[in-house]
Amino acid sequence: MDATSQRFLMCRPTYFAVDYAINPWMDPTAPVDADLAIRQWEQLRQTYRELGHTVEEITPVPGLPDMVFAANGGTVIDGRAMAVQFRDPQRADEAPAYRAWFEAAGFEMHDPKHVNEGEGDILLAGDLLLAGTGFRTAHASHAQLQEVFGYPVITLQLVDARFYHLDTALTVLDERTVAYLPEAFSPGSRAALRRLFPDAVHATMADAEVLGLNAVSDGRHVVLPAQATALAAQLRDRGYETIGVDLSELRKAGGGPKCCTLRLRQGKAGK
Ligand code: ARG
Repeated sequence: MDATSQRFLMCRPTYFAVDYAINPWMDPTAPVDADLAIRQWEQLRQTYRELGHTVEEITPVPGLPDMVFAANGGTVIDGRAMAVQFRDPQRADEAPAYRAWFEAAGFEMHDPKHVNEGEGDILLAGDLLLAGTGFRTAHASHAQLQEVFGYPVITLQLVDARFYHLDTALTVLDERTVAYLPEAFSPGSRAALRRLFPDAVHATMADAEVLGLNAVSDGRHVVLPAQATALAAQLRDRGYETIGVDLSELRKAGGGPKCCTLRLRQGKAGK
């Protein structure tokens, strides 16, 4: 299995907090260790660097505690960036901040016409754009994604509020393989996933409940929450190398390694 060197965008959790609740993981009355959150995030960044990936950083904005979840900042494929539109007003101001970053970085910009929470719900698997809906990203945005990026979009219906973004329920391991929690999808979407990925890894509820599927793969190494031990063993059986990271504090906002990481895919010329 070959690892592909990646370019990621991350946002330091300088202003991270759980001040509001927009998913079932968030409890604004529970304590969060803000310093530990930063150390855990630095460890994730270090892990990527050691794997040979490039990590770019966007400057965090005060008053936007969820901005650390860079996956929700956009969708970037073939040098084109689709900006985002959040469902919840608490996150709305993150959208222009990320948009400005993509523009300054030279990506061709496209603006969403409907709620679209970026790579939290939109995952490229080989030549297919897997697109979640049900909680955040609007179904109507899927058609726009196909027009902008020109990859066939597969709509997947999420049904469990704990797995509110596609990247909490499914992880892309390489061009042909995914891992997912079947129970997180509607019966029709589950059947579609079975047709598309007959060899997929099926995660257990216990692993999904520690956000184990919120993982980042370069095709060979899979960075995932350390607590997802059974999933890590399944992946190693398939020949992947697994690297566990502890993001316990960010999980209190409903996020894991993948949420903190936006993949920047250059155009052919920019490779
Ligand atoms: N608190 C954030 C929210 O509810 C967490 C986002 C996690 N990001 C992700 N890509 N799943 O929006």
